[in-house]
Amino acid sequence: MINRGFSQAFLDEVISKNDIVSVISKYVTLNKRGNNYWACCPFHMEKTPSMSIKEDGQFFKCFGCGEGGNVISFVKKIENVDFYKAVEILANNAGIQMPSYEQDEEMRKKKHLKDRILSVLKATSEFYINNLTKTEANKHIDYIRERGLNKEMVEKFKIGASLDYYGLINHLRSLGFSDKEMLDAGVAGKSENGKGLYDFYATRLMFPIMNGLGEIVGFSGRDLTNSPQHAKYKNTPQTLVFNKSQLIYGYNFLRDLKRNKMLDSIVLVEGQMDVIACHQVGVNSAIGVMGTALTANHARDLAYLCKNIILCLDGDGAGENATYKAINILKDANMNVTVVRLTKAKDPDEYIKKFGKEAFLNELYNAIDCVEFILIDLATKYDLTKNSDKNKYINEALDYLSKLSTKTEQEIYLSALKEIVKVPIDVLRNSLHGAKEEIKRKEEPEEIELKANAFEPIAKRCILSSLLYKKVADPQLYNDIFDKQDEFRVIYDYILDKYNKKEDINISTIYSCFDIEKDSEWDNVINYIFPSDEVFNDYFADAVLRLRIDKLKKQKQELKNKIAQVKDIDEKYSYLTQMQELDNKIIKLEKGEK
Ligand code: UTP
Ligand code: MN
Repeated sequence: MINRGFSQAFLDEVISKNDIVSVISKYVTLNKRGNNYWACCPFHMEKTPSMSIKEDGQFFKCFGCGEGGNVISFVKKIENVDFYKAVEILANNAGIQMPSYEQDEEMRKKKHLKDRILSVLKATSEFYINNLTKTEANKHIDYIRERGLNKEMVEKFKIGASLDYYGLINHLRSLGFSDKEMLDAGVAGKSENGKGLYDFYATRLMFPIMNGLGEIVGFSGRDLTNSPQHAKYKNTPQTLVFNKSQLIYGYNFLRDLKRNKMLDSIVLVEGQMDVIACHQVGVNSAIGVMGTALTANHARDLAYLCKNIILCLDGDGAGENATYKAINILKDANMNVTVVRLTKAKDPDEYIKKFGKEAFLNELYNAIDCVEFILIDLATKYDLTKNSDKNKYINEALDYLSKLSTKTEQEIYLSALKEIVKVPIDVLRNSLHGAKEEIKRKEEPEEIELKANAFEPIAKRCILSSLLYKKVADPQLYNDIFDKQDEFRVIYDYILDKYNKKEDINISTIYSCFDIEKDSEWDNVINYIFPSDEVFNDYFADAVLRLRIDKLKKQKQELKNKIAQVKDIDEKYSYLTQMQELDNKIIKLEKGEK
């Protein structure tokens, strides 16, 4: 269990005085169906509701994106705040006094550490910005000029300069920051003899990285020496506030645009220089990820703000691969994805320099639909004047189309394909459905395989969820199923403990006792979907029985392995006897005896 610095009693009070149904209904429209409420999930884009809100358990779960939790998790997510702030919002909401820091030592410490790190980063950024006014920054200024960045952009993106190894350290010390705080913030490195600190980005041109709230959480420093020994960009390592794979460069500006209702489509580019170059020509919705691949998390954060996105990645092969990957991830997040491939320049920054603002905007206006892009891009790999090539191309294209989610989508792109290959649409349509059958048949055996492996966790979830929701009574009867090292054991222990203490289990409380990530075992158990009532008893009994038999069989296999290894005859016999006992047990279980 985790300690978030608040007492459980306090959290329970906050939860119980903030009914999840009325809190969520302030943000989204709810529909009542049966015992549950349903809503279109605000955490990913959707047209039909897949977020369920349970009044009795006081928790929510989206079956589309997987997000779920209690009322605190909901507020944390939708307000984009940390746990502490979410609790504070809800406590205020219900007129409950927040406990003072003194009472909550743990929370105070953690919050203090985070605040100090943010202060270090802010002071560092101010120091770097001020450096730009000094004569020693001539190299940095020259570079800014060379890259054509205007004053407005330098200010908007808070660009600065590190001039040397120790200036920053001395400055931060004079402000009262400790060595540990500088190291924790990721702005200082430790020298090899382990004694002194130095500026982690020494002599680089500095780009602060801001989070969605506009707070500086890290830096990316560009090397100006052009020496092959130096990485082109040096980024802040993972810290309490900086996680490269979650951050989106420019996200804070997107949020501003959204707030002012000026966000029409997002433009995804590859590096921070590209983001800035775009902003400089008025494309203020340009964002980039920080030298990592785009993830489903990024996609969700983007889809939350705006459904339309234009991909405008680097013109090289790596950019092409990244475009394909990004299309899949963004489509999965239900975004409308269009694509610009810059062929005449390596990236948006260079394109704008070479051809100017108007030409670049024109490229964005003419972005093509992502599936059409894939169809056209695939075609460039073939010589469509040759029949054999054309055939291969059609097969590859249909294979791709067969994976699209809806029939309507498939129809739309069949006409696009028709235009490319000049083959009657009926012919393409017939082959498409043929291709789909083929794929289905190929996939079947794998699925069965998967089911066999997946049995154990599914059965365990069924048992735990049945205990959790009191569909079966006595948890003690299943002690043998959950070994001490079993990943499900924590859940079983929790249920057993509550049972022994004769305490009721409250699902929303579980969410504040454990860190429940989506698709984690807790998440699966809480949101387990039961088979229908008519078959439940049989299903449950089967699950228990098969788990027990499988466990005995596993033990038998272990004995077999031992027998193969030992030389001593007596020892062998003793293992054999044990095996026989196991066999008897298995036979009994299979016959349904106790
Ligand atoms: P690029 O090499 O395309 O950078 O890397 P760029 O923006 O075009 O840089 P300039 O124009 O040459 O200065 C794209 C992004 O990958 C990350 C950075 O975030 C960069 O903006 N990157 C690149 C690193 O983190 N480290 C590196 O060494 C290089
Ligand atoms: Mn680039």
